[in-house]
Amino acid sequence: MIVRKSAEDLEKMRRSGLLVCKVLKELSGMVREGITTMDLERAADRMIRDAGAKPAFKGYYVPAVGATYPFVLCTSVNEEVVHGMPSARRVLKKGDIVSIDTGAALDGFFGDSAVTLPVGEVDEKTRRLLKVTQEALELAIDRARPGNRLFDVCGAVERHVVASGFSVVREYVGHGIGSKLHEEPQIPNYVDRKNENPRLREGMVLAIEPMVNAGRPETRVLADGWTAATRDGSYSAHFEHCVAVTADGPWVLTRQ
Ligand code: MF3
Ligand code: CO
Repeated sequence: MIVRKSAEDLEKMRRSGLLVCKVLKELSGMVREGITTMDLERAADRMIRDAGAKPAFKGYYVPAVGATYPFVLCTSVNEEVVHGMPSARRVLKKGDIVSIDTGAALDGFFGDSAVTLPVGEVDEKTRRLLKVTQEALELAIDRARPGNRLFDVCGAVERHVVASGFSVVREYVGHGIGSKLHEEPQIPNYVDRKNENPRLREGMVLAIEPMVNAGRPETRVLADGWTAATRDGSYSAHFEHCVAVTADGPWVLTRQ
């Protein structure tokens, strides 16, 4: 069952969405050569707690891993796709890309968003990877309208990525969001004909999160048990927004 949110619930989700937006904006300003992913973690932890909110990921039980995630952020560098863990030993260097993913709950409702940023100058292909992934997210957001179907959203990501010569990750998906971090439906970044294709209705909220590899789509989990990385070592980008389906069109809750 896909939970539909009332106008009042959406206002609460807007508040958590704006907090997550503010955190990512602040962290984006910190990203430069020489900082560590743990520096980002500390700043995010402080901001979320100062806002009276609860970090969404820290302590979150992930059945596929069989453990609870230990940090406020996922920081996934270069060939890491998602669920990279902040570390004081991970010093960002010029030419890296870093995906910063975070979530927070305020007043019982969650926000969840991610961006991938270049560290200093990155090469032309990597710049294009970031641009195409962001564009794929925007195309998908524009399909989040009452009367459309879930596959319209999934297909918008897949089409743009494949036409651009990159590949979508299949093992990790977006999700509904609300009073829980993960709600129905699952939102793959490709059309999976085996899945149901529900019609989108007013009040549904979708966390749309394209994960795009510069090379082959396959991933593997690193020895830490959490970090997903590309099998072929190619770079991977990840952007995410929470989007409410409204009569007036898509409302991006995690954007100012
Ligand atoms: N944005 C990701 C998601 O919604 C991050 C979750 S990390 C977790 O699935 F460890 F908390 F699961
Ligand atoms: Co998410």
